[in-house]
Amino acid sequence: MRQDEIWDAHAAQHYDTPGTGMFAPEVLGPAVDRLATLAGGGAALELAIGTGRVAIPLHERGVPVTGIELSQPMIDQLRTKNADIPVVAGDMATTFVEAGFTLVYLVFNTIANLLTQREQVECFRNAARHLEPGGRFVIELWVPELRRLPPGTPATVFTSEPGYLGVDTYDTLHQHVVSHHFTFDPDHGRAAQVGRTPHRYIWPAELDLMAQLAGFELESRDADWSGAPFTADSRSHVSVYRLPPAR
Ligand SMILES: C[S@@+](CC[C@H](N)C(=O)[O-])C[C@H]1O[C@@H](n2cnc3c(N)ncnc32)[C@H](O)[C@@H]1O
Repeated sequence: MRQDEIWDAHAAQHYDTPGTGMFAPEVLGPAVDRLATLAGGGAALELAIGTGRVAIPLHERGVPVTGIELSQPMIDQLRTKNADIPVVAGDMATTFVEAGFTLVYLVFNTIANLLTQREQVECFRNAARHLEPGGRFVIELWVPELRRLPPGTPATVFTSEPGYLGVDTYDTLHQHVVSHHFTFDPDHGRAAQVGRTPHRYIWPAELDLMAQLAGFELESRDADWSGAPFTADSRSHVSVYRLPPAR
């Protein structure tokens, strides 16, 4: 399952849910506010920009935004919105645009779309290459839910509702989790449709080590974009890494 097969024309056309889910103002607003502050008056680069869910409102707030994105259909979808946002097609772990950004960000768990530790470390190094001294790399990522896995149980149900079943299957040896999204007609016995998304999950401590390898220091870690304290029970985090300032 390659990422460009997952993020195909069908996925791109159905990605946006204006006003709801990840596009709800209460989800998007605090993220855009925080990123605008962290950009500190400079330009921002979004890795895996998708259809511009975050980049477009951030750009509307006056922050110049550039994107890197692997999926051409996602880029095409962004283009339909006529936003003045340059996007370079390529892999966020290796594609270089230019140096001098004050902020690079990678949100919505997307660093986990890179399926090996090597690629994830490369992604940190690539973020660092794009930043000016003192620049920040922001990551939004879930905390692996291994406490939900009793011994001998390789899968968990994360959502069960009429017409939709979400199941995560784990390969703990390789730190892989595949989310299976089953959609079906709850009133008839017809075949379900399934979509699958593979991830390599990362503990916060491993993420910090990847950052260290690329020359970053952890500046802050919160449980959400509004700055709620990160605790042992937090299910997600917003981590801000920073390069040393110029001497
Ligand atoms: C969950 S979406 C997030 C999109 C956008 N950042 C957002 O928050 O709405 C994941 C995106 O990552 C992109 N992607 C996955 N692997 C990538 C890679 N190696 N390099 C660049 N983009 C990648 C996919 O094509 C998809 O657009």
